Amino acid sequence: MNLKDHIRHVPDFPKPGILFYDISTLLAHADAWKEAVKQLHALIAPLKPDLLVGIESRGFLVAAPLALELGIGFVMVRKKGKLPGPTVRHSYALEYGEDTIEIQEAALRPGQRVVVLDDLLATGGTMTAAIELIRKVGGEVAATAYLIELSFLNGRKRLEALGVPSHSLMVYES
Ligand code: PRP
Ligand code: MG
Repeated sequence: MNLKDHIRHVPDFPKPGILFYDISTLLAHADAWKEAVKQLHALIAPLKPDLLVGIESRGFLVAAPLALELGIGFVMVRKKGKLPGPTVRHSYALEYGEDTIEIQEAALRPGQRVVVLDDLLATGGTMTAAIELIRKVGGEVAATAYLIELSFLNGRKRLEALGVPSHSLMVYES
């Protein structure tokens, strides 16, 4: 099965000039979704993480089923103000303005190894912020993983500079 056959390409969304890779069609197809989780399992199981971390919101869709398959826990990184405290926050720059993400202080014990999941790696800005946050609470990021990587936006290089490897199932080069 070619997973790319299940990704819908939407031109000019959410802004003119942007080509949006829509995972809705993959999620809605039971066999394709099962295959994606199976492939992620094969990549991540050898890393033997203690926990998986998912990034709100589409990262939850990937991290939660994979954590069940691996038989380990799942931790949420959320946009600010959504998690009851005590929490730790990290702010990061967007194209315009900034955003803040949060994790519960007690979500990780110091030294625990995690793999962080998101649906898509673009510039790596979101994942860089999540790595900072996990390190603030004492976690060790073994790797990150995605359904889709837009390699022309160089997110992988940005994460390599932090010493974190990336795994992706589908790579788009333009
Ligand atoms: C999208 C996507 C990744 C991030 C990738 O999330 O789901 O999380 O952007 O971009 P980056 O590598 O340039 O940071 P979005 O902020 O659109 O929110 P959502 O997951 O809640 O839909
Ligand atoms: Mg997202």
